[in-house]
Amino acid sequence: MDSRGGKSGRETIYEVIVFIEYMQVITTKNAKETKTFAKEFVKTLKVGDVVCLFGELGAGKTTFTQGLAEGVGIAHRIMSPTFIIMRSYKIDNEIVSPVFELVRNGEIQLYHIDLYRTESEADIQSAGVVDILGKPNTIAVVEWPEKLGDLLPQKRIELHFERIDDDTRKIILKRF
Ligand SMILES: Nc1ncnc2c1ncn2[C@@H]1O[C@H](COP(=O)(O)OP(=O)(O)OP(=O)(O)O)[C@@H](O)[C@H]1O
Ligand SMILES: [Mg+2]
Repeated sequence: MDSRGGKSGRETIYEVIVFIEYMQVITTKNAKETKTFAKEFVKTLKVGDVVCLFGELGAGKTTFTQGLAEGVGIAHRIMSPTFIIMRSYKIDNEIVSPVFELVRNGEIQLYHIDLYRTESEADIQSAGVVDILGKPNTIAVVEWPEKLGDLLPQKRIELHFERIDDDTRKIILKRF
């Protein structure tokens, strides 16, 4: 991989600006690079992980989720669940076993949660979101996690998306 970005084969590679154990800063130059990064990122996850995606409208949270889903072999196109709060996708165990090392058997679900339209913790509770977070055999990806307030799990992974210009995004990754 070319660590300064640029071409590697036919795919351009996202740029890693900072890499320390609990934090990384990355820039991507287009949506495809964000998806490429997501496909690498998903390999670091374990079942029960909660991935919180912060960033303004259009920052790239759903685009990232699409890449993450592709990375674990989900064939469905991931749509923004804005009006549905939560959608789940079955992850094919055979594809995933080498990725999520803790999984021995059973089904794994990817939950894509978008809290943008929720107005209160009661909304979030009634949608059943909290029951999903951290549950064994799930990976949860949450857009607008700030809406969780006190319900935000302590153990989580945060990604902060910043729009630099039309096609450039800075992504800060922190593990708690
Ligand atoms: N480097 C990039 N990374 C991600 N998306 C990019 C990038 N450059 C351009 N884009 C475009 O920005 C848009 C990001 O939209 P996306 O739906 O992913 O945002 P979002 O953060 O989920 O917004 P919302 O809060 O409305 O759900 C897409 O149209 C995508 O093609
Ligand atoms: Mg979105």
